[in-house]
Amino acid sequence: MTRSAPEPAELLTIAIEVARQAAATAYRMRAEGVSVAATKSTVTDVVTAADRAVERQVLDALHRVRPDDAVLGEEYGAGAADGAVSGVRWIVDPIDGTVNYLYGLPYCAVSLAAEVDGEVVAGVVRNVVTGEEWTATAGGGPGATQRLRCSTEVDLGQALVATGFGYDPARRSHQARVIAELIPHVRDIRRLGAAALDLCLAAEGRVDAYYEKGLAAWDQAAGGLVAAEAGLRVAGLGGLPAGPDLVIAAPPALFAPLHDRLADLDASGGP
Ligand code: IPD
Repeated sequence: MTRSAPEPAELLTIAIEVARQAAATAYRMRAEGVSVAATKSTVTDVVTAADRAVERQVLDALHRVRPDDAVLGEEYGAGAADGAVSGVRWIVDPIDGTVNYLYGLPYCAVSLAAEVDGEVVAGVVRNVVTGEEWTATAGGGPGATQRLRCSTEVDLGQALVATGFGYDPARRSHQARVIAELIPHVRDIRRLGAAALDLCLAAEGRVDAYYEKGLAAWDQAAGGLVAAEAGLRVAGLGGLPAGPDLVIAAPPALFAPLHDRLADLDASGGP
């Protein structure tokens, strides 16, 4: 039997509805008080009860409307639906910026993307605290209510560049060394604490560019699509696709100089 792939717009409609409900739960649980439920890769890589509850809510909501789809989530991994038959896989970060969430800093988001046959075709990122929301479909541009336009900056020396750090101390040391060498050559660096939101800020030109090593699929899927659809080039080093080794999201004029500087600094290297 030939299955027909769902339209990106149809998947986006579902994603927006599910992400809004998820963000409402995260907001409510924040107001009720947050504490660390467990740690993951290192002692600073925390998970709260809300991370788990929100992801469970997303899994249940998606299963109700699209029971044949696979889901990859930050907290529960591929889950039971790994062998999905529909060709659709959802990628969810229930709370990107968990440390900000823990500390009550208003920079954390639900990120939900849909892939069809391995390509991200729809995505939504919703700030849990402010309610700001960014959406996009592949080839369809950013959501209708948004007028996203990436930065027009052409000089890396004038660029405000966002980045982030992993949780592993050895990786952080390497990332800090890269920043120490990069910062004399850019306007400034921002470390805001939620990769999905960093990508959306780049999509809006509220930072000029963004890069980071070590992102997982759930950190970059939705925000990466928003950034690409807003006109940024989103890729890794040396023509590789954006991925765990490195994600660079930059306007066309800034991509090459930032890419080359990061390559010289071995930004994708180290632990
Ligand atoms: C983290 C944030 C952070 C980035 C890390 C991510 P989490 O995700 O996006 O900004 O620097 O690489 O792991 O743990 O808050 O979901």
